[in-house]
Amino acid sequence: MDQWDIHKTGDSSPTLYSKKYRAYYHSLHGAIEESSHVFISAGLYYFQRQGNRKLNILEMGFGTGLNAFLTLISATKYDIDIDYEAFETDPLGPHIYQELPYYQLVPGSTLLDYTQIHDSDWAVPIAISSNFNLLKRNEDILQAAIASSKFDIIYYDAFAPSCQEQLWDSQLHEKLYDSLKPNGCLVTYCSQGAFRRTLQSIGYQIEKLNGPGKKREMLRAIKI
Ligand SMILES: C[S@@+](CC[C@H](N)C(=O)[O-])C[C@H]1O[C@@H](n2cnc3c(N)ncnc32)[C@H](O)[C@@H]1O
Repeated sequence: MDQWDIHKTGDSSPTLYSKKYRAYYHSLHGAIEESSHVFISAGLYYFQRQGNRKLNILEMGFGTGLNAFLTLISATKYDIDIDYEAFETDPLGPHIYQELPYYQLVPGSTLLDYTQIHDSDWAVPIAISSNFNLLKRNEDILQAAIASSKFDIIYYDAFAPSCQEQLWDSQLHEKLYDSLKPNGCLVTYCSQGAFRRTLQSIGYQIEKLNGPGKKREMLRAIKI
């Protein structure tokens, strides 16, 4: 039996339901809307607006590849060089990702952009385009060795704390804080008070931002 079901979200883009984790991969109000708002606008564009033309991004939870895909499109559009490193314990098979036609819904993208992201090998950095290198790591982020002071942005896209509590506690987040450069940031859709306090106790400065669609808040946490 397959581990995933496909669902349509409020902005017509698809998402997955994981039977293993009993959770959806994106907001049911809109998968592309959420990904664009939380990770691209509040993370990538936040740095791009400051004039950065070279960025290292870490993603927790590669999943459908939607965040990586939107980042690739933005890298081309704004001429930013990006090294993108993503963790994923449960990679999707082709029979699933081929049923998620995000490229048809994102202006300026192609089927090739999308399939290259998925078809590329794991565990080795691959040049998907002239300014987007992708390293997909089929590893549990809790166990993984992560370089210190390497990343400008962390896209923190784990399933919710109610589903995977360990992914929101201080042990992992101290390691992730260490992996950021000074002034680097972590962005996430989750604005729960307990998680906010965990990040503050580690040393982050927290910004509460408007969430996507009907969601009231999201977080951007800055390493100071
Ligand atoms: C909310 S989904 C990610 C959605 C994804 N960013 C997207 O755009 O489709 C969370 C992902 O984290 C993965 N995951 C769960 N536990 C993990 C772990 N300990 N380490 C790495 N990946 C994990 C799940 O398999 C799932 O694909």
